[in-house]
Amino acid sequence: MKLARELSELERFGPLLDALPGPSYLVGGTVRDLLLGRPPRFDFDLAVVGEAESYAQHLAERLGGRVTTHGRFGTAQVRYGTTHIDVTTARTETYAAPAALPDVAPAETIEDDLRRRDFTINAMAIALPDADLIDPLQGEQHLREKLVRVLHERSFVDDPTRIFRAARYETRLGFRMDPKTETLALLAAPDTRLLSGARIREELFAILEEDEPERTLARLHAFGVDRALGVEFPAGPTGLQDRLRRLNDAYGLGLPRWHLGLLSVRGPDGWLDDLKVIRRVADDVQAAHREEPFLRVALAGGGHTPAEIVEAVEQSGPDTPVYALASAELPALRRYFERLRGVQLEVDGDDLMALGLAESPRVGEVLGELRRRKLNGELPSRAEELAAARELITE
Ligand code: CTP
Repeated sequence: MKLARELSELERFGPLLDALPGPSYLVGGTVRDLLLGRPPRFDFDLAVVGEAESYAQHLAERLGGRVTTHGRFGTAQVRYGTTHIDVTTARTETYAAPAALPDVAPAETIEDDLRRRDFTINAMAIALPDADLIDPLQGEQHLREKLVRVLHERSFVDDPTRIFRAARYETRLGFRMDPKTETLALLAAPDTRLLSGARIREELFAILEEDEPERTLARLHAFGVDRALGVEFPAGPTGLQDRLRRLNDAYGLGLPRWHLGLLSVRGPDGWLDDLKVIRRVADDVQAAHREEPFLRVALAGGGHTPAEIVEAVEQSGPDTPVYALASAELPALRRYFERLRGVQLEVDGDDLMALGLAESPRVGEVLGELRRRKLNGELPSRAEELAAARELITE
């Protein structure tokens, strides 16, 4: 099959095609997405049978781009404009032990390289510059059948990250593992515990960055991946992530998707540290899980003054209010996000000192009292804040 037309329509690919210093192969997700008619991305993976580094060097010169070499596995990256091209030496891989990083050797043909890959739909290549599809493992047929299918029985044992990947592609593409792949995933799920924390984190974050992460997590839960890792994924879509994402957008909280996603996963103390998640985020997520029931009880029912609401919120960590509101609609928290969060005094410590208050803990106390009054609507202007401050200072 020739894919010349599809390639010509692939945005940003034209200059690359014109600049190729010799034969190479477009591989990986771009081939899959091109055949599916999915929106293109601007990271291209090229495989060369031979030396990747010198190929990348020549390519960069012709494109007027820059090259970074990685050494490991014979890979180099060419950057021109906002486009990244990863150039890799076609290789074979063997695994000395389950979940170990592979031993690699140069492949003699592109087909050999395709045979080391995860799923048939990811094991296709397009020969460049001729645009011939190379599909020795029926990837194109499986795209039509909407199947995620491993290439051989040891695939998940060799590389248990592929279980996460398979579930992620199912959700993203609306595909399904074929029954044998599903059984192999189930059998290899306990091996995910052999992966390093950093590799688990990468897979988890990749899932959390995508749409409908809870659907993927629920699938992994059905395989027992979370049990193997000693954590608990939601057993079905709960809508929590949708609500968190909506609140994050509506109130401009600016939290990345992966951060919101971690709030859907329950784990023992310290599990996020094992994954090497940055400490501040790990602390905030764990605090949210711990504190949410207390905040909910503290703000249940009506009748709280604004200052009481803010005080309850400020006694908890930064993720707790958004997590609590995503878990259950609480009018008091709505009010906090919609109005109270933005309430700020117009006076500050300098104003208090100008009124004669010496630098001391009393400055903080007076500001705290002024804020309470302002929240409760008692101090509608700067003049009234100053008058109240004067009164408090002379008390
Ligand atoms: N790959 C693999 N086994 C893995 C990871 C990757 O065989 N554990 C191969 C697959 O052929 C994959 C390619 O390397 O297509 C590139 O990997 P990656 O960039 O992670 O995925 P893409 O398929 O490009 O897809 P996406 O980024 O859209 O998830």
